[in-house]
Amino acid sequence: MLPPEPGLIATFGFVRNPYGFLDRCAREFGDWFTVRVPGVAPFVFTSDPAAVREVFQGDPALLHAGKANSPLGAFMGERSVLFLDGGEHLHDRRMILPAFQGDRMRAYGPMMRSIARAAIAKWPADVRFPIHPEMRAITFEVIMRAAFGLDESAEAAQLKDLIARLFALYSGRLASLFQLPAFRLDLGAWSPWGRVVRLNREMETALYAEFARRRASLEKNREDILSMLLAARDESGAPLSDQVLRDEMMTILLAGHETTAASLAWAMYRLGQNPDVAHAACDEVAQLGDDADPASMRYLDAVVNESMRLSPVVPNVGRVLQADMKIARRDLPKGVTIAPCIYLMHRRADLWPNPEKFDPSRFIDSRPSPYSFIPFGGGTRRCLGAAFATYQMKIVLAEVTRRFEILPVAGYEPRPTRVSIAIAPSDGMPVILKSRG
Ligand code: HEM
Repeated sequence: MLPPEPGLIATFGFVRNPYGFLDRCAREFGDWFTVRVPGVAPFVFTSDPAAVREVFQGDPALLHAGKANSPLGAFMGERSVLFLDGGEHLHDRRMILPAFQGDRMRAYGPMMRSIARAAIAKWPADVRFPIHPEMRAITFEVIMRAAFGLDESAEAAQLKDLIARLFALYSGRLASLFQLPAFRLDLGAWSPWGRVVRLNREMETALYAEFARRRASLEKNREDILSMLLAARDESGAPLSDQVLRDEMMTILLAGHETTAASLAWAMYRLGQNPDVAHAACDEVAQLGDDADPASMRYLDAVVNESMRLSPVVPNVGRVLQADMKIARRDLPKGVTIAPCIYLMHRRADLWPNPEKFDPSRFIDSRPSPYSFIPFGGGTRRCLGAAFATYQMKIVLAEVTRRFEILPVAGYEPRPTRVSIAIAPSDGMPVILKSRG
């Protein structure tokens, strides 16, 4: 028998207020509960540490993440590493990994810093404004530059514009419904999905032309992600096909910027609420100097982790069971999705004393377990961009705290809201910034 479940109506809360829904389920049912969405196999949520360990260490042939991620295929195409399982997944992950390994970050760092500085220099002081759109602009610019390199051509500008317009459609108010096949109806150029389909086609043409242009160009040793993927070869010497490359690029671009921007918006909220923490971060930045290596930002690292602990922008991951399985002594049938719940795991009082308190010191001098601190998921599916995201977050927050004090906006309480593929604070996360002079 599956664990208990809230009614269908209550489940709509998962769309409207995901964190609130999960809190209610944990209060009512404890570590295990079942969520049903019409037309989809049941999701068995768990925040039992033993279960999460078993899932992350389990046999990927029996625990399919690609299938669990498939609703996001509507946004990114279905041939990327996010949606594959088994040998195919391993094959593509191995080919992409080099572009995201730790030592690559040092190459991306100066670019991330200069984009953040240019953007932050334009922010107003002493007035209320929404910071989430600003963070999205920074992370979009960063991922585009990391993905395509510095290219001032007209073709590059057109491609960037098409991708930006497509992602704007994905972050619209009703866009999360596109994850359900029933809402993907092409009823002509003016229907919501019809617009996505047409823009996608236009973007695809421009992207394929870019692949061809890059292959024909004599420029070697370019260090952007696209160049690395174009040059990648598997053990048999085969490159990635254009269709796979398209989907990998869309996954990296979308997964790479919306999640990081939403995480930055939440971090700004926490810093505004906790001036002592913001001060300590500012002191660290001052001590380290202008162009400090993010690897040396120990306090900011703790701030980023603590913010992701309380507000994980991806609240759960999923694995579809390929056979009947026993997980943490519980029998689960083939076909259900086991969903390790990041949000609830991060709020367990037995793992995180005083769990609601924002306290970066818990991460100083302590290495959190890969089964209790899981903002990037785990096992063979752990986020490929984890180092890229934390590196960038530290650089952006260092630049902000160096220049500004972050004042909370009176009366504002963030409501967790779905924006594209991430959960962000509502209303664009308003802040008031005061110049440090
Ligand atoms: C704060 C920012 C980010 C968060 C919170 C986040 C979170 C996640 C999570 C929870 C997963 C699923 C892991 C699992 O199923 O166990 C994932 C997968 C993935 N992420 Fe991220 N991510 C972030 C940034 C990025 C960035 C910057 C990139 C690329 C530039 C990226 C690329 C990917 C890819 C390619 C996968 C699929 C990995 C696979 O299936 O093997 N992510 N991410």
